[in-house]
Amino acid sequence: MRLIFSIITGIGLIAATASDSWADAAAGKAAFEAKKCNECHYTDGPAKEKSIAEQLAKKGPELWYAGSKFQKPWLQAWLVDPKPIRSLKYNSLTEKNAGGHPKLSGGDAGNVTDFLMSKTSGEVKAGTIKPKKSLKGKKIFNKKMPCTGCHQSANKKGKVSGGFSGPTLVGVSKRLNPDWIYAYLANPTHFKPFKAMPTFAGILKDKDLKNVAKHVSKLK
Ligand code: HEC
Ligand code: HEC
Repeated sequence: MRLIFSIITGIGLIAATASDSWADAAAGKAAFEAKKCNECHYTDGPAKEKSIAEQLAKKGPELWYAGSKFQKPWLQAWLVDPKPIRSLKYNSLTEKNAGGHPKLSGGDAGNVTDFLMSKTSGEVKAGTIKPKKSLKGKKIFNKKMPCTGCHQSANKKGKVSGGFSGPTLVGVSKRLNPDWIYAYLANPTHFKPFKAMPTFAGILKDKDLKNVAKHVSKLK
């Protein structure tokens, strides 16, 4: 009797846990729509843009692989208190990003985070990049390739420098998933069929794409 009882409770618990996380993602999807986030972002992959004109007409970055791109704690905190990531206004090469992104309250942010973290891409393979120091990657990033011409980053002492046309890479160690960084460098058009960033796959050997992904994933 007792055994049967505990089996039933066990099944009940498993069902409750599964439906709880499902309920949060479902509530997050509902909040995402109610807050009109979908007016600027789409969440169903694969990439929809068919031309550069479509890329430029977008109001916000695509979020259909958000669960593969972001670290969950960063995402949840950012939705409550969003700070500019791109120094320039999205899809502009001249206008400054004034910030002012819509904010979510704690409860909605938790649910929307669960919803967005459920949006993943099979292109991103877990465990490909171990985020450890790579001197080779550092050299490629700072000297051999033009990364810093478009991206801001901070050196060891915390001094920030670099260009403004790409998203800031300050704080990547808390924001981005290292495996996504590599997947993005190795096959960028899977994520962005039309893009402003050059493709480095083919210019750099796969090993060096991994080295530079390691370096970027450590940036504070
Ligand atoms: C008026 C258009 C607009 C609306 C509405 C909007 N966003 Fe955004 N969102 C943007 C832009 C533009 C950026 C890029 C900001 C930056 O880089 O600083 C962005 C960035 C983001 C990012 C980071 C994406 C990345 O790849 O860096 C997330 C996550 C996000 N928004 C979620 C949301 C959620 C959730 C909502 C609804 C509460 C929402 N957005 C509503 C325009 C919008
Ligand atoms: C000509 C300017 C340019 C150069 C050079 C460049 N990038 Fe980018 N990068 C961008 C832009 C613009 C984006 C935003 C998305 C897009 O259009 O591809 C971006 C996006 C990224 C992202 C994703 C950031 C995010 O939050 O979405 C990473 C990581 C990145 N670049 C790393 C690099 C590395 C590493 C190099 C050098 C090997 C490099 N970039 C060289 C312009 C550049």
